[in-house]
Amino acid sequence: METAAQTIFQYHEATKHHFRRYARSAGFLDWRNQPDPFRVYAGASRCRLPLLSKDPPSAHRALYQRSETPIRTASAAAVGAFFELSMGLSAWKTAGENRWSLRMNPSSGNLHPTEAHLIWPGTDDLPPGVFHYHPFYHVLEQRMALPEALQGALRAALGEGAFLIGLTSIFWRESWKYGERAFRYCLLDAGHALAAMSFSAALLGWRVTALNGLSDASVEAVLGFDRTVWPEGGEEAPELLCAVHPADAAAPRGLDPEMIAAFAELPVAGDPNPLSGRTVDWEIIDAAAKATRRPETDGIAAPLPDRPFLDAPPSAFSAAAVIRKRRSATAYRAGAGIAREVFFGILDKTLPRRGAAPFDLGAAPPSVDLLLFVHQVQGLSPGLYYLVRTVDGLTRMKGLAAGDLRWSSVDEQLPLFLLKTGDFRNTAQTLSCHQDIAGDGVCAVGMIANFEPVVASDPSRYRRLFWESGMIGQVLYLEAEAAGIRGTGIGCYFDDPVHALLGLADDHCQSLYHFTMGVPVEDRRLGTLPPYGHLAGDLQG
Ligand SMILES: Cc1cc2nc3c(=O)[nH]c(=O)nc-3n(C[C@H](O)[C@H](O)[C@H](O)COP(=O)(O)O)c2cc1C
Repeated sequence: METAAQTIFQYHEATKHHFRRYARSAGFLDWRNQPDPFRVYAGASRCRLPLLSKDPPSAHRALYQRSETPIRTASAAAVGAFFELSMGLSAWKTAGENRWSLRMNPSSGNLHPTEAHLIWPGTDDLPPGVFHYHPFYHVLEQRMALPEALQGALRAALGEGAFLIGLTSIFWRESWKYGERAFRYCLLDAGHALAAMSFSAALLGWRVTALNGLSDASVEAVLGFDRTVWPEGGEEAPELLCAVHPADAAAPRGLDPEMIAAFAELPVAGDPNPLSGRTVDWEIIDAAAKATRRPETDGIAAPLPDRPFLDAPPSAFSAAAVIRKRRSATAYRAGAGIAREVFFGILDKTLPRRGAAPFDLGAAPPSVDLLLFVHQVQGLSPGLYYLVRTVDGLTRMKGLAAGDLRWSSVDEQLPLFLLKTGDFRNTAQTLSCHQDIAGDGVCAVGMIANFEPVVASDPSRYRRLFWESGMIGQVLYLEAEAAGIRGTGIGCYFDDPVHALLGLADDHCQSLYHFTMGVPVEDRRLGTLPPYGHLAGDLQG
């Protein structure tokens, strides 16, 4: 019988893009069956969350360092701010008659497979319960009420002022467009959402900690998924639960089995909406999701290094302004660059460090390093570089990669190594499915994971490697905005040709996500409307 690891390796191999063949998909967009980007639990009672009338004033650095941020008391207003600045709408875009919403968290194809849930022990202004967050209305849909005993148990387990959030993925939203590769995109999007939540929490003096010990079955029990009747293709698959808690307090890494059993007894309310008239079942995605299911573990977090931040030029924008103005660039001004100090400041934020958002949420030990195609950075020769984010990344890649790479250290404080000088604009563009943005900008990035040994030892880590890559992508998006430039995630790249560039001969390391940054060229054909104009007249708080 095939092992879970074999199944997921086969999935990964089958969903690579090759120069001569893209990963399997429908090959056309069935617009009549485009999935609804908004999940509704019809019949569930709704609690309106106030929208922010004024953003938290924190400077950009508060995204990462929480020590100067006052800790907000848990309340409906605070949890509203938390969701608004992570999963809420950021704008509406218009082109002629067409109009579509964007969100604080980016998403492959703007399809938004990630849903967020809240497990709330109860405050005077928000009843205890399990809720689904609906970003269009900025409301919570109550799926379960919590009996008093469970409220008390939850409070005791999490500590004062803490609550849980759950993230889930609807695979069909992505497979509608991307076919078999869609599972990867869902995982990357979940990583973006995780980092987005870690950042919005930081602005409220809170910290997000992954409940890494919980099995997927436990997550489903807490969210009521084991007793929800799903419409075809509209199933939500569990990603993870996290504690959101005052930054100076500790959080558990799991939940007591008795508490899980108590959640599993609760009746659920609300019928999930069908997302399309007709759906297509991509069996390979179901198999990949099954192979990567998480068992119950001890959930122990790997210690992160204590590492001071580089002394980089401060951003002209506040933390909340950076979150709100984040967009994907569709084109870059070729030849426009940034200064070396600014570039290093951006890269520095992608390094995992103890006590700093977002990587201290501890979903797994850091396992992803960065391959950089540097095009336009003043004071840095164009070429290929490697940023080592992981404990053993340097020795690993030196041992696996081609022997002609230089590996010369570029900076005393940043673990950045020059591999090769040269003009890699065409290479980056070609490798990124020929997308101009990979060659025209300041740089392109490939996220190189320690893949085969990690996934072989624990297939559920496949998902976590992609989450980590998505989180790095979210950091790069925000850092580009903070520096006055712009970023774009790149899910479309040719997998093995990227590996060949480094001279990698096997699947030990794999590139899981790409990214580009540059000086954006605005698309003047598009109009922009405010995110919540459609709720005008409703309560502001
Ligand atoms: C995982 C992921 C992969 C993406 N891949 C691409 C890509 O290959 N090419 C591209 O132009 N944009 C890509 N994007 C950008 C999305 O199209 C963009 O996030 C979405 O349209 C929403 O727009 P916004 O980021 O401005 O909110 C990707 C985004 C994510 C999160």
